[in-house]
Amino acid sequence: MKIVVIQGPNLNMLGIREQQVYGPMKLEQIHGQMKDFAGQNNIDIEFFQSNLEGEIVDKVQECYGDADGIIINAAAYTHTSIAIRDALSAVSLPAIEVHISNIHRREDFRKENMIAPVCTSSIVGFGPFGYHLAMMGMLQIMQEVNAAKQMQKEQAPAQ
Ligand code: DQA
Repeated sequence: MKIVVIQGPNLNMLGIREQQVYGPMKLEQIHGQMKDFAGQNNIDIEFFQSNLEGEIVDKVQECYGDADGIIINAAAYTHTSIAIRDALSAVSLPAIEVHISNIHRREDFRKENMIAPVCTSSIVGFGPFGYHLAMMGMLQIMQEVNAAKQMQKEQAPAQ
C-alpha cells in the first residue's frame, strides 16, 4: 500500500510560524514520525510540500495509478482552491484532509472549505498528532477496501 502526503503553502515554516497556533514541531519531525509508523505497518510513504497551487494539482494527478490513498493539508488553499478540489475529485482516491489547528474556531474565512466535500474524512484541531490519526484512518480504510474486494471475489460466479 502506498500513501502520498501532500502539504500546502507555508507548512514548510512549521516550527517557525505562529507557534501559538501550530506548535513547535517542524514538518520534517512530523514526517519522521509518519515514516516510522509507515515502516511499522508495511506502508510505502511519499512526502510532498509546495507553496504553489499548480504543483499541488500536478502531485494529486500523479497519485492516479501510483498511490492507494492521499493525506492532504492544503493549508490556505483549502479555503480557495477549486483546482485542488477538482484534482482530488478526478483521481477519486481515498483522501484524508488534515488541519493542525481547529479551522472551525478561527477566522470566518477559514470556515469556507473547498476540499472537505471531496475527501473521505477530515481531521482538525489535534495539532501534529492529526497526521498520525490520518495514518491510522487510512489503514482502516484500506482494510475495508481490501475486505470488500475479497468478498466480491468470493461472491463472483465461477467462470
Ligand atoms: C491549516 C489551516 C489553514 O487555515 C491555514 O491557512 C494553514 C494551516 C492547518 O493545518 O491548521 O496554513 O491548514
